[in-house]
Amino acid sequence: MTKIAPSILSADFVNLQREIEDVLAGGADWLHVDVMDGIFVPNISIGIPVVASLRKCTNAFLDVHLMIDRPERYVADFCKAGADLVVFHVEASQPQYLLEAIKTVLECGKKVGLSIKPRTPATALLPYIDLVDLILVMTVEPGFGGQKFMHDQLPKIELIREMLNQVNPDCDLEVDGGVDPTTAPLVKKAGANVLVAGSAVFGKADRAAAIKAIREA
Ligand code: DX5
Ligand code: ZN
Repeated sequence: MTKIAPSILSADFVNLQREIEDVLAGGADWLHVDVMDGIFVPNISIGIPVVASLRKCTNAFLDVHLMIDRPERYVADFCKAGADLVVFHVEASQPQYLLEAIKTVLECGKKVGLSIKPRTPATALLPYIDLVDLILVMTVEPGFGGQKFMHDQLPKIELIREMLNQVNPDCDLEVDGGVDPTTAPLVKKAGANVLVAGSAVFGKADRAAAIKAIREA
């Protein structure tokens, strides 16, 4: 079944508890937390203390997407703060440090994922795809919510699903960026089973209807 993970980047941070309760009551499967450092991406968002605060007010599955340089420096801290899944970028560090970060997250007893930017070829994932629980394909340039879905990423999603079927068929395939009721069927058809949606959920007054529209599209 397709999982829907609303991205709190598009939520009202002043009322974050109310916002997450609203989307969880509306049927959200996971909460997607976008962490940006102003270096790996040209924007700064939230970090470890916010994950810890979220953990205190919900048992929901926290899907933490690190858009940060050299994630190996911080993955253990995000695990300790209460992330259930820690995802970082294949472009964000050297191979030996990515392997170290994967190992650290697994040793913390959490799920681990690897994300890929639009211009990075799927083959960059090859050394890691049998080691991770999830691959996250960006369908916008990471850094901001509310951007337009990049249709040219659909063949890459299909290719990664084929790669995973060969070596790691239980691995989740998540898509992030510009997902709405129009683009959701395209990414599902391409093989994605976890859909991140920021503005298409938090930008709507009726979050339950927004989630249902994406799930059933
Ligand atoms: C972008 C973030 C996304 C973003 C998605 O860098 O990783 O999670 O919040 O927002 P929408 O769904 O509005 O494209
Ligand atoms: Zn994200």
